Amino acid sequence: MKSFAPLVAVVSLVTGTPLMNAAEPSITSKSFGTTTNGKKVTLYTLSNSKGATATISNYGGIVTSLKIPDRNGNFSDIVLGFKTLSEYEAKSPYFGCLVGRYGNRIAAGKFTLDGKTYQLAINNKPNSLHGGLKGFDKVVWEATPLMTKQGPSLKLTYISKDGEEGYPGTLTVTATYTLTNKNELKLVYRAKTDKKTIINLTQHSYFNLAGQGTGDILDHLVTLKADRFTPVDKNLIPTGRIASVKGTPFDFRKPTTIGARINEKAEQLKIAKGYDHNWVAAKLSGQLGVVATVEDPKSGRVMEVLTTAPGFQFYTGNFLDGTLTGKGGKIYNFRNGFCIEPQHYPDSPNHKNFPTVVLKPGQTYKNTIIYRFSAK
Ligand code: BGC
Repeated sequence: MKSFAPLVAVVSLVTGTPLMNAAEPSITSKSFGTTTNGKKVTLYTLSNSKGATATISNYGGIVTSLKIPDRNGNFSDIVLGFKTLSEYEAKSPYFGCLVGRYGNRIAAGKFTLDGKTYQLAINNKPNSLHGGLKGFDKVVWEATPLMTKQGPSLKLTYISKDGEEGYPGTLTVTATYTLTNKNELKLVYRAKTDKKTIINLTQHSYFNLAGQGTGDILDHLVTLKADRFTPVDKNLIPTGRIASVKGTPFDFRKPTTIGARINEKAEQLKIAKGYDHNWVAAKLSGQLGVVATVEDPKSGRVMEVLTTAPGFQFYTGNFLDGTLTGKGGKIYNFRNGFCIEPQHYPDSPNHKNFPTVVLKPGQTYKNTIIYRFSAK
């Protein structure tokens, strides 16, 4: 195990005195094995001054573990995942990963830029999902650990070649993960291209705030700051309509449990086997703001989600079916985890009324996501 020396002292920035019960923030690393095509992979563990830890693999930018205290100060791992690299390579439903180049679906894997049509791999019939056959969740990123004033941090860099997975332009991407000393997992994504292209990067952790592998998430209380969502067709592609949530099971403007309406006979719930939709964030695009709050009544853990993105996918693990066994031998059954993936809307390249996902040379793509934890 390697250790990276902290550059900051754990003292109150206001008074300069040591914080009570504070731990020294640290970053350690160890091998996570080798990919099937021979690349070495490392696991980095960021520990903040409150004793919380986030472990990140430079294969896929995967958050393999996130240990956060409950209302009694007991730490549990609150993200689903596997023990070994080979399981992530062989069968992961995008557990904890960095999704790119394009998060969520593109209809028939087709889009047009300046009159030229691009065809992506159809890896989720009849669509392209989460960047294709070998998306950013399946590549090895260059990793640089750094200790910052906010907390321990890991910067991941990847250069995606022109034409990789069918997307135009050489794309240089950085994703910086910081476990702040305020118990936030902060993700900052940046990208530049040398040719006009499309991009939509996000994070795909499956959370269970009661602890991973403890059952379903139906009693989690959810508040979504969104008046509207984008309904989908039978292939989970947005129809193009931006619909009001009012009077529907998609209205989470007041705290409501996930399970309260998930089994109602609404057409949209039937299509997706639950919630698997994009909500339109009720804030000015580009500004960082809270878009969602989730509370687990049992443990008291609360997660707020902040982003600069114009929307977010709220997915309730409807495709988990008990066939995957995760860390600690836990079996992941139907709806045993939920994702909130701040992003641009699915299939945006094919909908003129959705915010643009086009990135041009000279521009910088930006997305910031913060998962902020507390307990009550
Ligand atoms: C999608 C789901 C998909 C899951 C991948 C989510 O972002 O919205 O439809 O099944 O990712 O496991």
